[in-house]
Amino acid sequence: MIRSVIKGTGSALPARKVTNEELAKTVDTSDEWIVERTGIRSRYIAGEGETTSTLATMAAQRAMDAAGIAPEDVDLIVLATATPDQTFPATATTVQAALGCRGAAFDVAAVCSGFIYSLGVADSMMRSGFAKCALVIGAETMSRILNWDDRTTCVLFGDGAGAVVLQSEDVPEDGPGVLLTKLHSDGRHNGLLHTDGGPSTTGTSGKVQMRGREVFRHAVVNLADVLQEVLKESQFSAENIDWVVPHQANARILEATAKKLGLPMEKVVVTVDQHANTSAASVPLALDLAVRDGRIKPGDLVMLEAMGGGFTWGASLLRM
Ligand SMILES: CC(C)(COP(=O)(O)OP(=O)(O)OC[C@H]1O[C@@H](n2cnc3c(N)ncnc32)[C@H](O)[C@@H]1OP(=O)(O)O)[C@@H](O)C(=O)NCCC(=O)NCCS
Repeated sequence: MIRSVIKGTGSALPARKVTNEELAKTVDTSDEWIVERTGIRSRYIAGEGETTSTLATMAAQRAMDAAGIAPEDVDLIVLATATPDQTFPATATTVQAALGCRGAAFDVAAVCSGFIYSLGVADSMMRSGFAKCALVIGAETMSRILNWDDRTTCVLFGDGAGAVVLQSEDVPEDGPGVLLTKLHSDGRHNGLLHTDGGPSTTGTSGKVQMRGREVFRHAVVNLADVLQEVLKESQFSAENIDWVVPHQANARILEATAKKLGLPMEKVVVTVDQHANTSAASVPLALDLAVRDGRIKPGDLVMLEAMGGGFTWGASLLRM
């Protein structure tokens, strides 16, 4: 059967790491509060010359190197971001030019679920025969749309990028590839996590606004639901899963979701302590880390999941 197989992963972080202690010098907060409520200890913040496209390009290049593919092999780039370099053109086209690739390139806007959405879109396009080799990227510079005077949001986010190379391959039933992706949204809740502006309303990008408690409540329920849905349809059970690579918003959400599924935390890849919430970048960043440090191995059954503004949420089951 034809499947989209992950042939390589890559990631990139800005040069500057900012610890909670450093943040507490300019924001009315403390390391204790942030660690206790979120598990976050540090985040990376983009500096001059570092943008969503530069981080995305670096992550994508590393994924291409890991996969051993050349720019001319790529015929599709799908880039998830809520912080594009410009309102238009799509950041994916900037990355395409920087990498020297051809084919189709576009952005997907699903905020923190953006990478799962992009993986679902790219996988569908590959299964339909539109593309043979895709770069799927999640990249963000959330620091540029934070209100640094709002301690309830600014301590939670960070910048970064992650990418995978997907190649269409004829594989046996128990072989590698994306097995199943489920995507959902519920626009009734889009006021709970949003920016207070945009090109067609204020003519600015706006800054992040969030009702944290409500988001937390919805996140735990929606993520547990979509994970159950994927398990049921794929006919795997939670015990079959080798690794869960979740969106890294909050350590307490990761723990609550794992508990609901009966999965031990030893099977959950956690990077929120180091990177904070990097929105669309968080899942591919965590995936790349766990692949490179040898935790995730060829043949492993891996569940990716995320939830974000919109609300949007989804999960993808794949074999490495
Ligand atoms: C944001 C979040 C960490 C806040 O935790 P919480 O336990 O809900 O805390 P609350 O918002 O109720 O605030 C509790 C108190 O801490 C204070 N506080 C908020 N941010 C603070 C900070 N950075 N430092 C210190 N105190 C802070 C509040 O002002 C409040 O004080 P008060 O009781 O005197 O009014 C939590 O709601 C959360 O993680 N939500 C989900 C967020 C998320 O994952 N979003 C992304 C999804 S993609």
